[in-house]
Amino acid sequence: MIATLAEVLPTRRGALAGLVVLGWEDAAAFVKAAAAEGLPVILQAGPGARAHMPLPVWGAMFRTLAEGAAVPVVAHLDHSRDIGECRAAIEAGFTSVMFDGSRLPLAENIRATAEVVAMAHAQGVSVEGEVGFVGYDAGEASARTTPADARAFAVGTGVDAMAVSVGNVHLQTSARAEIDFDAVRAIEAVTDVPLVLHGGSGIPAEVRRRLALETRVAKFNVGTELRQVFGASLRAGLAAHPERFDRLAIMSEVIAPMQDCARGVMRNLAG
Ligand code: 13P
Repeated sequence: MIATLAEVLPTRRGALAGLVVLGWEDAAAFVKAAAAEGLPVILQAGPGARAHMPLPVWGAMFRTLAEGAAVPVVAHLDHSRDIGECRAAIEAGFTSVMFDGSRLPLAENIRATAEVVAMAHAQGVSVEGEVGFVGYDAGEASARTTPADARAFAVGTGVDAMAVSVGNVHLQTSARAEIDFDAVRAIEAVTDVPLVLHGGSGIPAEVRRRLALETRVAKFNVGTELRQVFGASLRAGLAAHPERFDRLAIMSEVIAPMQDCARGVMRNLAG
């Protein structure tokens, strides 16, 4: 069933997985994984996905999968820096949008995010924002989220979920992030808004679980870890069957391994 982020967050036990989707095979695998675990799932179309395939196709795909599922499925736009794109995503059937103003000065981030919140909430759509800046492995450096900024952002925007920077980094290919639990607690002390950690792949599984059970981190975005499984299973399938040329036959190799990986990620976060 289709759901918004605001609907699934309060009903969760532990935290939920926001899984980065790049095509049909992974999207279908993640929904099957959620159904097998009996857990809600957040399907996320990020900037790369949107550059590859038009937004309305993503919206229709996510909604079709959601409508065929017995568990709640959130159709989420990940990392949009464009209010017009958030509006287009809502028109395309997304039930949740992340407006990413994290590169803007705080006051401008608050102003723009609040504008998205007003527009999205009027249509029953959830909004995630980011305060501080979650950096990129071998790329832009992080700017940690301060409690004062987190409070101002939560109060000033009315977001349903707030992505924070507490040692997490996007695109790490091994789990080596060092999460500052004291920083999480300091942010929790000043706001009730559910927290999101991007860069989930870099956070060791046992740390993800501790955060899910002991803090108000409510959503972990996971992408790289799943893409690594995609690449490995695709290569193994091609090596085992060098005669294959049919796309459907080749891609059939990735579905079960991605489903298994997604199940493990979701189960580990569940209370
Ligand atoms: P990883 O690819 O590092 O898991 O991060 C995903 C993410 O945060 C998407 O928004």
